[in-house]
Amino acid sequence: MAGVPVSGPAFDPVARAFAPDAEGRAVRLRGWVLRSRSSGGILFVVLRDRTGHVQVTARRDAVGAAAFDAAEHVQVEGAISVEGTVAADARAPGGREVRATSIAVLDAGQPFPIFSEQTEEFLLDKRHLAIRSQEHVATFRVKAELLRALREFLDREEVLEVTPPILSGNAAEGGSEAFQIDYFGRPGYLSQTAQLYLEALIAPHERVYALTPSFRAEKSRTNRHLTEYLHLEVELAWTDLDGLIDFTERMIAESVRAVAERRPKELAALGRPPEELLALRRPFPRITYTEAIERLRAQGFRLEWGSDLGTAEERALTLESKEPLFVTRYPRAVKAFYMLQTPGDPRTVEAVDLLGPEGYHELVGASCRETDIDRLVERIGQIGARVEEYEWYLDLRRHGSVPHAGLGLGIERLLRWMLRREHIRETTPFPRTPARHTP
Ligand code: 4AD
Repeated sequence: MAGVPVSGPAFDPVARAFAPDAEGRAVRLRGWVLRSRSSGGILFVVLRDRTGHVQVTARRDAVGAAAFDAAEHVQVEGAISVEGTVAADARAPGGREVRATSIAVLDAGQPFPIFSEQTEEFLLDKRHLAIRSQEHVATFRVKAELLRALREFLDREEVLEVTPPILSGNAAEGGSEAFQIDYFGRPGYLSQTAQLYLEALIAPHERVYALTPSFRAEKSRTNRHLTEYLHLEVELAWTDLDGLIDFTERMIAESVRAVAERRPKELAALGRPPEELLALRRPFPRITYTEAIERLRAQGFRLEWGSDLGTAEERALTLESKEPLFVTRYPRAVKAFYMLQTPGDPRTVEAVDLLGPEGYHELVGASCRETDIDRLVERIGQIGARVEEYEWYLDLRRHGSVPHAGLGLGIERLLRWMLRREHIRETTPFPRTPARHTP
């Protein structure tokens, strides 16, 4: 686009207009038009950039007729640049406005298709534009803060970030839910978990993590399933179930606290008062699967020991609770093949799920890993997979197999609870669900 000033004299962030010493000073701003109106030769524009928004007033006699006429035709979400002076004005949002001495149109824009009272489907079709809303802006600022806080925690704990592949010849969590692709004539899969690769990486590094997209080809149309989600996975050598629970608890508590301290405005705007997150206390309650079954039966659920906890059961366990809940030692048959059999109890595995407070379902899935190669081979057979496909993984049990454990946290699941969103798709800019993989 010709004539758009990108280099040259620096532009000020919009927030500069609200600095304590800004009144009477000149500013140069650029950004997008949140809304505008004109009356009696004065144009009122609310200008937005990444730092905030400010009212700009442009008088025809101050900016010149040609510039005024052009600016008057800028649509919502058109782009402009402005030079002017900051002045106090009690009627303007934030009590300040910028009185323009010049105004230039960068892109007048076409009529913006998004306004209030549109259907959810329409907004999802126009997601590439809808993500400019203040709700989405706040959401993705919080998400970035959460990722930062988690990385800071992992750094403090001396866990090394590694980069496992997304394309694989194995479908680790069970073939039926993996997206299969044609890999030059051979079957390939989109990663459901980086776990098996992380298990290989603990021998040289002992403590590793990866933050990667995971893919699940589940047709589940629930408000907590995406077909592509951001997965934080950690694998720790020399760790048992108690160590794993302790690590998970500290990771969640410290990261949630950091986000609440750094993004209170965004949280409040999204309907989650930061105080509620700051009130989260360790230790989180812990119960075994067997205790969970007893508790659910007492609530009227008809459940056999051995059945998996479904949507309704998970929800009932934490609906009345402000804290997350650890559920440990699930029946072996409902969990993945790589989980360590509980010492002294062949019916259960050393697995733990962290259920979100307020009925928000599973946030973290974690377990100690089976170190015994014969048991692993037996389990691979029981799930109907071919042992040859896991040869490389079995090698890890042949060369320095040590006790280890790991976890997978669904970033959007955690965020959905933190932001109290009804649907998980609100926690990712371009949601992927069974019904939608575009835009
Ligand atoms: O419980 P899952 O399936 O565990 C694993 O994949 C392990 N291999 C992780 C590990 O130990 N390294 O998934 C882990 C977490 C779940 O607790 C949930 O938060 C999230 O991933 N998750 C999903 N999030 C959004 N949409 C989906 N369809 C999800 N499926 C799992």
